Amino acid sequence: MQLQNKIREIQDFPQKGINFKDITTLLKDSNALKQMIDDLCEPLKDQKIDLVVGPESRGFIVGVPIAYLLNAGFVPVRKPGKLPAPIRKYEYELEYGTDSLEIHEDAITPGQRVVIVDDLLATGGTMKATAKLIEELGGEVVSMQFLMELTFLNGRDNLKGYHIKSLISYDE
Ligand code: PRP
Ligand code: MG
Repeated sequence: MQLQNKIREIQDFPQKGINFKDITTLLKDSNALKQMIDDLCEPLKDQKIDLVVGPESRGFIVGVPIAYLLNAGFVPVRKPGKLPAPIRKYEYELEYGTDSLEIHEDAITPGQRVVIVDDLLATGGTMKATAKLIEELGGEVVSMQFLMELTFLNGRDNLKGYHIKSLISYDE
């Protein structure tokens, strides 16, 4: 199955000029959902991953099933004001607009091996912020895994030195 065929493209959402990649059409298809999670897990199976970190909110959708299959824990990185215990914060730029992300201070033990997962690599702002938060707490970012990558936004330039894998690349 070609997972890309299950992703719906919506022109001019959420604003003119953006060709939005809608994964709800993939998620509702049981075979496509299973294949996406299995394909994202495959390169991680022998990596001794302690924790999967997913940025809110689509990173939660892909992150938890991967953590379950890898026998790893899951740590959410959240949008501001959502986490109840003491946090670390990192400011970042979005594909459209700016925001910041937060993690619980006690979410990671120094030396833990962490993989970050998300649906999409666009500018790389979300992933860079997430990696910085993990490293601030002493975690080791082993890999970054994505369902999709918008190569024309050059997100990898923002993420030099990290191991990055995406299942689907869009060139335009
Ligand atoms: C989208 C997407 C990625 C991020 C990629 O999330 O799910 O997390 O943008 O863009 P970047 O590489 O330029 O940072 P968004 O912040 O729109 O929120 P959502 O996951 O809650 O929908
Ligand atoms: Mg997101």
